[in-house]
Amino acid sequence: MKKWIIGIIVVLLIAVAVLAIYRFNFSKSINQDAATHEQIAAILEQNNCMMCHSFEAELPFYGNFPIIGKTVQEDMNRGVRFINLGNIDFEHINEANLAKLEQAMMNNSMPPTNFKMIHWGSGFNNEEKAVIANYVRQHRAERFATGLAAAKFANEPLQPMIDFIPTNPDKVALGFDLYHNTELSADGTVSCATCHPLDNGGVDGTRTSEGIYGQFGGINAPTVYNAVLNHVQFWNGRAETLAAQAAGPPVNPVEMGEQTWDDIVNRLKSDEILVARFEQIYPDGLTEHNVTDAIAQFEMTLITPDSPFDQYLKGDMNAMTAEQIRGYELFKAHDCATCHVGQAVGGQSFETFGIAKNYFENRSEEIVYNEDDNGLMGFTGNEQDLHRFKTPILRNVALTAPYLHDGTAQTLHDAVITMMEYQTGAKYNDEEVDYIVEFLHALTGTHPLMTKEE
Ligand code: HEC
Ligand code: HEC
Ligand code: HEC
Repeated sequence: MKKWIIGIIVVLLIAVAVLAIYRFNFSKSINQDAATHEQIAAILEQNNCMMCHSFEAELPFYGNFPIIGKTVQEDMNRGVRFINLGNIDFEHINEANLAKLEQAMMNNSMPPTNFKMIHWGSGFNNEEKAVIANYVRQHRAERFATGLAAAKFANEPLQPMIDFIPTNPDKVALGFDLYHNTELSADGTVSCATCHPLDNGGVDGTRTSEGIYGQFGGINAPTVYNAVLNHVQFWNGRAETLAAQAAGPPVNPVEMGEQTWDDIVNRLKSDEILVARFEQIYPDGLTEHNVTDAIAQFEMTLITPDSPFDQYLKGDMNAMTAEQIRGYELFKAHDCATCHVGQAVGGQSFETFGIAKNYFENRSEEIVYNEDDNGLMGFTGNEQDLHRFKTPILRNVALTAPYLHDGTAQTLHDAVITMMEYQTGAKYNDEEVDYIVEFLHALTGTHPLMTKEE
């Protein structure tokens, strides 16, 4: 037993020596003011970040050693699922990856401590941190900030929501009617509002929705409020735009029925007033394209600014309670704001669900695994996308129970604990969970159609 330990120590010392020499051959000289995207890439390369954050990385020579080998393999496996630095284009980095990089830089959390013990000198030095901080600030200001935050909150990972998106009022009014029109469904019973009632947070409150002929789908219905702020639509992102999204449900056999868009357009054409309204607005009249365009225009009006959180970020320090403010600090400290980012508090990236622990292995056996559980892989066919889901928007989340793509979390409390257990894997206590839940309540915004109170 003892010999064995000494053996490991000797090997470790050799590894340390080799790697120390290797590291100090590099001089880390950087021009801070002009951080180019190549520089960011070079900094990550020099700090061995790619070793755990790229699917191309090869196992290092000590990766097969007893004990440390297992830790290294686990770190590599977990790291790349948290953030894949190997395929980021640093000029067009998404908002979530930007927040992750900032978090790792601010916390000195990367690389993990055990790795630093082997790879002396990895970990950002002050100069490198300044370059990354500048890079984050610049991208956030130019590409993601809404410009509505008070000066001291201008560089926060979460942003106050825009107040207004320009739309065509005639199309919006038409879209509102189509959204509630059951004639879009094959038997005239189901409309968009059936599964996304606007006075109920934009969701039907069921685990999975009941569609036409009493059929149930395999995945929880997200809210339509603020959906316009998602980078793509659906849990697996298979629709690029709201209009492309709206083309789906009417011809989905489980949702609105086995039919074609020709069937739908022909049925709608029996309504002369509707036909006339289309002709007034669209030169080519009532078509599939124009139906989905009008619905999308209507959905662009479904943003919900003016939550207590928005008022707080805009500078009203009394808009949130002390518990909610503490909750926001914890939300950031627990890495939640590295995925649930931006003005929508999510919706900007796909993230693997179950980074810290395998969610699906531990899920109640009553829930049968279905193809929706595959996440993004179901759309791209790429194995690296297994269990990756579009991060849900957390705006109005207090109104949209049950939670998660499979609708298994009944309360916000349950959902937050699931995130702590399976997503971040960090230590937490009940009090912290309560504060975070308080904060999530501060994300309930206002909209004339969203009358129901929390
Ligand atoms: C030995 C493997 C390993 C190396 C090397 C490594 N990471 Fe990580 N990284 C991880 C793991 C594991 C996680 C998952 C979260 C955790 O365990 O804290 C992670 C998480 C992250 C995150 C998510 C946000 C956070 O801080 O939790 C970022 C960003 C990140 N790493 C960046 C980096 C950068 C930048 C480097 C290089 C300086 C680096 N990592 C080097 C394993 C590694
Ligand atoms: C039978 C219930 C049902 C009907 C009817 C329905 N939806 Fe949905 N909706 C869902 C479900 C379930 C999802 C999630 C599906 C997925 O991601 O694979 C969804 C997803 C969406 C999304 C994406 C939101 C996001 O965050 O990704 C939008 C937007 C949306 N629906 C709008 C509409 C519109 C507009 C209509 C009418 C044309 C409609 N829905 C009809 C159940 C329904
Ligand atoms: C690595 C990215 C990531 C991190 C970190 C993260 N989340 Fe999530 N969150 C997700 C994804 C992805 C989902 C959807 C999971 C699913 O159901 O498939 C989700 C779902 C949720 C939901 C349910 C929303 C709904 O409408 O169903 C809540 C609430 C939530 N997260 C809160 C948090 C909190 C609080 C934290 C910090 C403790 C956190 N998240 C950390 C990615 C993340």
